[in-house]
Amino acid sequence: MRGILITFEGIDGSGKSTAVAELARRIAEEERPPFAGRRFLFTAEPTEGEEGRLIREKLKRYSRTAEGQGSRAIEAEQLEELFLFMADHARHLAETVIPALGRGMVVVSDRYSDSRVAYQGATLRGVIPRPLEWVRELHRPWSVVPDKTILFSIDPALAIERCQSRAGEAGPSQISKAPEKFEREELLREVAENFERMARREPERFVVIDAACGKVDILEETMRALAELLSETKSRV
Ligand code: ADP
Ligand code: TYD
Repeated sequence: MRGILITFEGIDGSGKSTAVAELARRIAEEERPPFAGRRFLFTAEPTEGEEGRLIREKLKRYSRTAEGQGSRAIEAEQLEELFLFMADHARHLAETVIPALGRGMVVVSDRYSDSRVAYQGATLRGVIPRPLEWVRELHRPWSVVPDKTILFSIDPALAIERCQSRAGEAGPSQISKAPEKFEREELLREVAENFERMARREPERFVVIDAACGKVDILEETMRALAELLSETKSRV
């Protein structure tokens, strides 16, 4: 018996975490098939584990590390980041995703391996030849490919505005208000293009959602996509 793996992807500020939280709430209330009777596990990358915490800390403090120290230091930081995200993924797979799939659960992950392909595919440009393909290959022998990936597609300028208003909601701490490393329009534009390319390459796996819409419409569309997938894959559980 193998469960179903559904991932949510998109650039920072696209509204994934908001949608996934709402989805979890709605699913808990659903009393009819295809949701009722299925066991769900909501999870995320970076995780709340040791590697995930280290990554978040580093992303907040990036401006005080490699910048201004020359290209070698920047290259080292980009590679270090990739391997930290990979280590986090390995632990996430082994301790959370694979066991839950083995129990026949529907696993919903807010970010997963495609984030690495899109983000590190962008940050490693100029460091590694064909970085997007390389990062994808690094996963191939050992990772689990999602059954469906919901991609939140949005203009990076709007996503940055949302990140800024989210920082305003975060409270008085200066560190939570500072933009994280990847919350820059130029980089997010490249990451968004990488995601779009990936969706075009695997149209069967990706469902692209217009994330500029309101929260209610996005939730409805997400629920519809999920209901369709669960109805199609009933026989696997
Ligand atoms: P992500 O997890 O993709 O980085 P979040 O879910 O944290 O994005 O959303 C970023 C900010 O945008 C939050 O302040 C959130 O309340 C707001 N937001 C999320 N979805 C929408 C939406 N559909 N319309 C307007 N604002 C939104
Ligand atoms: P996350 O906390 O999900 O950010 P957000 O809620 O703003 O979308 O992820 C933290 C950052 O890490 C985010 O900028 C995306 C980036 N990231 C990568 O660069 N590579 C990865 O493999 C993952 C999982 C995240």
